[in-house]
Amino acid sequence: MTVSDNRAALPMAGHTHGNRSPVTCHLRCADACFKPVPNQSTDETFHSIASRALSRRSAMTGAFVLSVAAATTLTPESAEAAGSNLPFNPIGATPDDVDAVRVPGGYRWQPVIKWGDPLFSGVPALSARGTTPAAQARQFGYNCDYLDIMPDKGSTTRGILVANHEYTNEDIMFPPGTDARFMARTALAAHGMSVVEISRSGAGAAWKPVRDGRRNRRITGTTPFTMSGPAAGSPLLRTAADPKGRRVHGTLNNCAGGTTPWGTILSGEENWNQYFLCAGTSEKEERYGLGPDGDERMWRSVDPRFDATRPGYRNEPNRFGWIVEVDPEDPASTPVKHTALGRIKHEAASVAIDKATGKVVVYTGDDERFEYLYKFISRRHYDDSGTAAAREHNKKLLNDGDLFVARFTGDGRQDGVCDGTGVWIPLTMGGKSMVPGMSLDEVLVYTRLAASKMKATPMDRPEDVQVSPMSGRVYMACTNNSKRGLPGEPGTDEANPRPENKDGHVVEITEMDGEHTSRRFTWLLFLICGDKDSAGTYFGGYTGPVSPIACPDNLAFDSRGNLWISTDGQPSAIGLDDALHCVETAGTYRGRVRQFLSVPAGAETCGPVIHDKDGSVFVAVQHPGEDGSWEAPQSHFPDYGKGVFKGPRPAVIQVTRA
Ligand code: FEO
Ligand code: CA
Ligand code: CA
Repeated sequence: MTVSDNRAALPMAGHTHGNRSPVTCHLRCADACFKPVPNQSTDETFHSIASRALSRRSAMTGAFVLSVAAATTLTPESAEAAGSNLPFNPIGATPDDVDAVRVPGGYRWQPVIKWGDPLFSGVPALSARGTTPAAQARQFGYNCDYLDIMPDKGSTTRGILVANHEYTNEDIMFPPGTDARFMARTALAAHGMSVVEISRSGAGAAWKPVRDGRRNRRITGTTPFTMSGPAAGSPLLRTAADPKGRRVHGTLNNCAGGTTPWGTILSGEENWNQYFLCAGTSEKEERYGLGPDGDERMWRSVDPRFDATRPGYRNEPNRFGWIVEVDPEDPASTPVKHTALGRIKHEAASVAIDKATGKVVVYTGDDERFEYLYKFISRRHYDDSGTAAAREHNKKLLNDGDLFVARFTGDGRQDGVCDGTGVWIPLTMGGKSMVPGMSLDEVLVYTRLAASKMKATPMDRPEDVQVSPMSGRVYMACTNNSKRGLPGEPGTDEANPRPENKDGHVVEITEMDGEHTSRRFTWLLFLICGDKDSAGTYFGGYTGPVSPIACPDNLAFDSRGNLWISTDGQPSAIGLDDALHCVETAGTYRGRVRQFLSVPAGAETCGPVIHDKDGSVFVAVQHPGEDGSWEAPQSHFPDYGKGVFKGPRPAVIQVTRA
């Protein structure tokens, strides 16, 4: 492959089984699902061997059915449904070739901001040929994922939008023949994050971006970041360009995230391995998917640090894979990468304040097959006084604390329910490594290896985690795992009960004594997803009609405690466009899944934000039309022929009452 033609290797069509389209797999995750599972460390316990044998036998006889008959008696709350501020009749399932946003009757949708929209005066909009490196660095980036919409204090008409930009799709961003270095520089600028001021006419109305807003900012693949926490300055983070190991350029492959109580944004660096050319010969590289094929975008042609085989740059990939924190109120602030939360493929970061201790707890999943769920507990306490000094104090809370990883133990399936107990295993405590044979900075930089040593439970791609504002329970989406139970791979267990899990599940965790700092918890599978009539599905004990749901990814709560679930992979799992679903977590209708919207062909639903008191629902529509090409677009969302640029554009949309 030459530098001037790196589009040729990008797949163009078709679907993979039980996963995403091949284009998404290729561009976002570097084909992770087609490669050997990085986590080869899992022990074959008697239980997993026995359960695998059981699941194979059951699958072969067609008798694999999780017994859910008794489950209705397990609904933990008996109160009536929490109700909703957003009454709707669920939309029907949307075939996966429909290039439209569908919303319930009585609602309508409109874009808030789209890829290429200028954030500043003097910046060109998209042309028919797309954009340029200089313009892209001042325009809204590509493939928005995490999203928050935050009205300013005391205002219903001014606010701020923050989104991140996970990855780029060169095939539909650039015309054929575009110079590869031009594409690389543009793509670096299209990654990262956007901070955009927004305004509107009044409560319930549509938000619009404010060009030249004081807080408007683009963070890209080249923006300087500061490393914080115990591993900052470690020899493992030093490079020829940064001999002190404390200053990194750029954030890459940001997936979901979280908003802190002090008003900053956390964002997870996920499949960052795909940007680096590496030897891939050490366990420390292999476990993160680093290797010779991590070079397809050819970014080393414009910035040599992406060649991690060069002397002086072997540690460059160690400077990615972190939770980053950005202060959207201060466009001059230097964003931070937090080493205390470990280096994994972070999907998201969800913050809770422990009521008993005032400590900050951050839950974060590692989205790859057979990876783990983590929890960070700050050493210092959250200051809720609301002063400027308190905010500065809170912005340092993630610099220092203890890191844990989850082990799930089932209590047996004879009770008809997938449930059990769990422990949080310490990886670091009091500024010391708790992992035999690994130093503190090794635990934080090679966190996956540390967690394996401590025998955490390999999960079916643990993605977003959210804490219910009503019950304090913790919900984790496990998207799918096509390798579960296959020969040579870990078998099923009670927390991951289905072989070749194509539809995913949602775990409900209750921390012991209701304290987020607890070292023990109980858990159960709240949803085992799929089409209701397929074997083994479970909907929180609800036995009435539900919308089909597969591949849960991002989670959000509304103000009444209803859980909203966006999906990533319904097209290949159950042949439907990806969706946003609403499900009650308490009361008579606990577990009732109802589909609120679907996104256009090829797109994934990301970043749900539910302002139910305002009558608004927001989602980030990521990679619309990804299976298409420049010459033959699969999607025309969201302009549908009205704009100068004819291809699809990732965008944030708002759904309001009609
Ligand atoms: Fe970027 Fe795990 O989804
Ligand atoms: Ca059980
Ligand atoms: Ca995701």
